[in-house]
Amino acid sequence: SDIEKGTYPHYMLKEIDEQPLVMRKIIQKYQNDQGELTIDQEILDAVNEADRIYIIAAGTSYHASLVGKQFIEKMANIPVEVHISSEFGYNMPLLSEKPLFIFISQSGETADSRAVLVQVKEMGHKAITITNVQGSTLSREADYTLLLHAGPEIAVASTKAYTAQIAVLSILSYVAAKSRGIELEFDLIHELGIIANGMEVLCDEKEEFESIAREYLTVTRNAFFIGRSIDYYVSLEGALKLKEISYIQAEGFAGGELKHGTIALIEEGTPIIAVTTQESVNLGIRGNVKEVVARGAHPCIISMSGLESEGDTFIIPEVHELLTPLISVIPLQLIAYYAALHRDCDVDKPRNLAKSVTVE
Ligand code: G6P
Repeated sequence: SDIEKGTYPHYMLKEIDEQPLVMRKIIQKYQNDQGELTIDQEILDAVNEADRIYIIAAGTSYHASLVGKQFIEKMANIPVEVHISSEFGYNMPLLSEKPLFIFISQSGETADSRAVLVQVKEMGHKAITITNVQGSTLSREADYTLLLHAGPEIAVASTKAYTAQIAVLSILSYVAAKSRGIELEFDLIHELGIIANGMEVLCDEKEEFESIAREYLTVTRNAFFIGRSIDYYVSLEGALKLKEISYIQAEGFAGGELKHGTIALIEEGTPIIAVTTQESVNLGIRGNVKEVVARGAHPCIISMSGLESEGDTFIIPEVHELLTPLISVIPLQLIAYYAALHRDCDVDKPRNLAKSVTVE
């Protein structure tokens, strides 16, 4: 069946490998008979009536939401706020006149997110759930649902659901932009196809990531991920993957914030994984790498092809500049996987964690 491991030693590795397929499935599922990307008119109407969108999520889904905010703002020109679901109730922001809520949840069962959904529905607001599970609680209780079509995700550490969430958010933003008469000068179907191919290339280079994990992460007690702009969001996800399954104390930071505190933690040999996929951040992040190297750090630079790259550890295939998280996260997923493996951790069922957390 769909949820057998087959020849894979772990679900996580299988799910990482499924990502190119999931991209192609999403492109197909969100296409109409004319071969154009499409979203239900009711959902587009809800988006177009909103003066501000509030995205609510937890964990990996929160990290996908941060990327989604960029898509919605840059493509569809609608202001977006992203909130951690468990925090929202304590300090509810002053809502705009016509808010629209989007709940992002792989399982559709996260209690923290559901609590917010119940609260905003009581206030009379509209909600969309983006989830992998049709008929899940969040899907049933929201006004509208967009499905991820990623297939069952079994490993506790989320991989294919994260990239599926980002892909679906890109489609929602793209189609919403067109419906608002905004001209976008790229073809998203084509760009997502390039993503799927790039993911395949990376999934075929597993030995590279196994050796990066061995070199940087076998004995260390901590690791830092840095990025700027959209790469910062991916570095948060890279750190989360690593801590979840390898128990290495890992944190993601905005490159520019290092000097405001975290740099104090750099010692001889501290691994720093730097992600750079954008022209606008490349020099800045390389400056940060120099700062930490001067203090003894062991840098691993993952950069996108086409950028000026000196002394880089790994180059990832070039994709559209808005969509880079879909590609740059793959090395981080694989590095986390092999780090956990080298440290003899239970990759699919890390201690203290549950796949879906149905208590607040
Ligand atoms: C749990 C899982 C995480 C996941 C988070 C949100 O903590 O261990 O991997 O990101 O819940 O889950 P959701 O199903 O709402 O995306």
